[in-house]
Amino acid sequence: MFYSDDVIEEVRSRNDIVDVISDYVKLQRKGSSYFGLCPFHSEKSPSFSVSPAKQMYYCFGCGAGGNVLTFIMEYENFTFPEALKLLADRAGMSLPEPEYSEEARRQRDLKERVREINKMAANYFYFQLHTPQGERALGYLKNRGLSDETIKRFGLGYAGQYSDMLYKYLKVKGISDQLLKESGLMQVNEKQGMYDKFWNRVMFPIMDVNNKVIGFGGRVMGDGKPKYLNSPETVIFDKSRNLYGLNYARTAKKRYMLVCEGYMDVISMHQAGFTNAVASLGTALTSQHATLLKRYTDEVILTYDSDDAGVRAALRAIPILKEAGISTRVLHMEPYKDPDEFIKALGTEAFQERIDRAENSFLFEISVLQKSYDMKDPDSKTRFFQAVAAKIAGFELEIERENYIEAITGRYQISFEGLRKMVMNVLMQGVPARKAPVRQQARPEKEDGIRKSQRLVLTWITEYPQLFDAISRYISPEDFSDELYREVASMLYTQRRQGTVNPAQIINHFTDPERQSAVAGLFNAAVKVENPKELEKAVQESIYKVVEHAIAQKGRELDPTDMKGLQELIDAKRRLQEIRRLHISL
Ligand code: UTP
Ligand code: MN
Repeated sequence: MFYSDDVIEEVRSRNDIVDVISDYVKLQRKGSSYFGLCPFHSEKSPSFSVSPAKQMYYCFGCGAGGNVLTFIMEYENFTFPEALKLLADRAGMSLPEPEYSEEARRQRDLKERVREINKMAANYFYFQLHTPQGERALGYLKNRGLSDETIKRFGLGYAGQYSDMLYKYLKVKGISDQLLKESGLMQVNEKQGMYDKFWNRVMFPIMDVNNKVIGFGGRVMGDGKPKYLNSPETVIFDKSRNLYGLNYARTAKKRYMLVCEGYMDVISMHQAGFTNAVASLGTALTSQHATLLKRYTDEVILTYDSDDAGVRAALRAIPILKEAGISTRVLHMEPYKDPDEFIKALGTEAFQERIDRAENSFLFEISVLQKSYDMKDPDSKTRFFQAVAAKIAGFELEIERENYIEAITGRYQISFEGLRKMVMNVLMQGVPARKAPVRQQARPEKEDGIRKSQRLVLTWITEYPQLFDAISRYISPEDFSDELYREVASMLYTQRRQGTVNPAQIINHFTDPERQSAVAGLFNAAVKVENPKELEKAVQESIYKVVEHAIAQKGRELDPTDMKGLQELIDAKRRLQEIRRLHISL
């Protein structure tokens, strides 16, 4: 933190969140909160809420959320100090000189310097592309159909012909070897010393969502190997948390995002008007990528290459996206290999048509599955439908199962009733199977349910002071599942014990907007209840679930020779039964 907590808290408390957000979003009062259309995703009915009591905003549609500082950072694309400055000005305060802890200052300075160097390099590459030496590179890009405007928009460049050009350039600018090493732009070996990682390649700067250059991809012009070289991870470049093109795609305001494999695919799609396209950076899609995407959209259309590797990548990505609450469809590119080739060959309209016809991810999974069965062999065919039935049985709602049964009967030779019976059979067998110790598939969903209960408990602590005693008697901050939940719980418990709960202040403790949104989510969990009695029941149920999960977790971690631990566990189990008799009253 660059300013003291007191200063940050003063700026925050002098800016009422409803006032500030009203300058940007039209808000209407509904009960104890205000609602409006979310500025962070496109929607027709308002799911963006602002709570004057909690001094927080939260969007029930896209999960964006935080306090007044988060809002300014997200809306204006500001860094934390910039947002703080804006709000201090707004409240007529002047900020003191920022304070730094030794280590925080070092990290911050290092990041700042590495960012500067990457920016210098991007300018240098861009400049080189437009010199006579860059002619071949520029020709290469044009030959691939890129317009001047596109080249400029994506800041494409050329690394120069020799392996010491950038090095010399940055040395003239006075950059130390130590910093150059951190920048990801240099390579070191004993014989040659330090030299450029990228040379004689066309360069693709990678930008974060704030349009800051954090790394590069460099492509050979022709068939050399490796085709692309990428910056290594550095203090500013984390591949599993950044998506190429997201800086533009985030403002595309489309209902869905297109996720593809590579630099050229993103650029071609943007050039063709599909500005909602992004790519993971030469790595498989991670759950962090999915969380990042979820902030901007609920639906992803995968536009991976049409080869085996692309199909495998899609099969891996689908459950990861699902876990993050994103529904997925898969675009079919055949007979072309990737979006770049497709658009070049058939054009924009044909591509839009493929988007519109993209396949539901479940049906895509089934069609891949089907390829490993011989449908002419009766046994094999039966096994295929059994596998399909088992997958359909995994859907929670009957209506979902029926819709999928119907979709399958439209595609494969089986009757609705026939498949429905098979699904029912699986569900019946599933009953005893549930008692089996670890069912691999069921785990993530169960984890989700537990987290939901934990979020509800945290939300209720902020909303109903009278519940805190009962909750804290059974649940301690360590009983929450993740680091983030535990940290937040511990701060919240402290605040409750001191008498005033201030969720917006807790958010201040986190500097990364992504974590701030996640924290806001912890204070905005909701459950559908019709009356106070039902709410009381939900509270009791959630406390029970959280405690039960914590006990199970402790049980798994317990060293069998630890007698004291064992006794504690037995006590905890006894208290668990108490919760069933607990009387909650609101
Ligand atoms: P592709 O080979 O499909 O790239 O790899 P592409 O974008 O279609 O390349 P062009 O059209 O031939 O120029 C997909 C992505 O995988 C990463 C890059 O991010 C690339 O965009 N990749 C690929 C590498 O990092 N290194 C490689 O050697 C190849
Ligand atoms: Mn390609």
